[in-house]
Amino acid sequence: MKTPIRVAVTGAAGQIGYSLLFRIASGAMFGPDQPVILQLIEAPIEKAMKALEGVAMELDDCAFPLLKGIVMTDDAKVGFKDANWCLLVGAKPRGPGMERADLLKDNGQIFIGQGQIIDAVAAADARIAVVGNPANTNCMIAASQAKRLPAERFTAMVRLDQNRAQTQLAKKAGVDLTAVQNIFIYGNHSPTMFPAFAHATISGKPATSVITDTAWLQGPFCETVGKRGAAIIAARGASSAASAANALVDHVRSLVTPGAIHSVAVKSNGLYGFDANVWAGMPVRTTTPGSYEVITGYAMDDFAKSKIAATNKELTEERAFVAELIGK
Ligand code: NAD
Ligand code: LMR
Repeated sequence: MKTPIRVAVTGAAGQIGYSLLFRIASGAMFGPDQPVILQLIEAPIEKAMKALEGVAMELDDCAFPLLKGIVMTDDAKVGFKDANWCLLVGAKPRGPGMERADLLKDNGQIFIGQGQIIDAVAAADARIAVVGNPANTNCMIAASQAKRLPAERFTAMVRLDQNRAQTQLAKKAGVDLTAVQNIFIYGNHSPTMFPAFAHATISGKPATSVITDTAWLQGPFCETVGKRGAAIIAARGASSAASAANALVDHVRSLVTPGAIHSVAVKSNGLYGFDANVWAGMPVRTTTPGSYEVITGYAMDDFAKSKIAATNKELTEERAFVAELIGK
């Protein structure tokens, strides 16, 4: 039996938490032979802590063989202690008519404190995945507070966007979902994100040779993927939760699977035209469990360059907005 890993989850009693925790405890995130200890962190609000107790009771009632312990706390110093993975979900979701960046004022502050505490108390091999919106900039904020843990350990989730893009391409081409490969998301988890359809393949052929409707690829396809979160809020009256939890399972599972190729928002060092030090979605290849390299060499045409410039501009604006907060 492997040693259990400690997985800290913030916002554990929230909508995403309710879909996520059971998948982690079942082995979907770290594999069927990896025991886990869940360290569940909630806001210091009586109602949230009470709800968390209920979630923990349900986890107990699932009798998951891999679940070796549950910590429940409203103290981040306790919750992140010795954590090998820190899944930062807890934050306010947007409502109708809002953009994710509108959440920066409320949510940005959370990631300052959590970045500092994770850096102080998490395990030496800690990895951090940010979901709370605006995810890219919140991730940058948390990483800005770390002195011990390298910035590369801090990733933000664009996997939901990749999954959305994969499905839209499969539906348009009339093929099974699994026929669509190598669709990567560049930039911000916002309507400016760029799903780079020109590099995708469908049944091993360039996607653009299967879907020859360039106007659809450049227009409705990019727009549907970019605005899918808002469409779900409009339909459901609440932001996506089960699909977001599923995407986080995919995000981490791919990051612990050497050879996996997937989209992750990582610290830019200038590749693909992104400003250094913004967290931008890019294609990565997992090297060793928890580590990755950015896949370089995808050629960008003029359309792709203009899309990347727009999403990079938004990321730099968000960074400027929080410059005072992060003291930079
Ligand atoms: P929710 O309101 O249902 O749950 C959020 C939970 O976080 C609440 O239980 C709240 O008490 C808790 N919380 C707030 N501040 C906290 C703190 N400082 N420490 C610990 N817990 C705290 O929201 P949700 O639907 O679960 O969404 C959570 C976040 O994820 C939102 O910001 C949402 O916009 C974002 N989201 C991101 C993606 C993505 O693809 N990146 C997808 C869906 C949702
Ligand atoms: C999503 O993409 O579904 C989430 O980021 C929630 C939102 O605010 O759109």
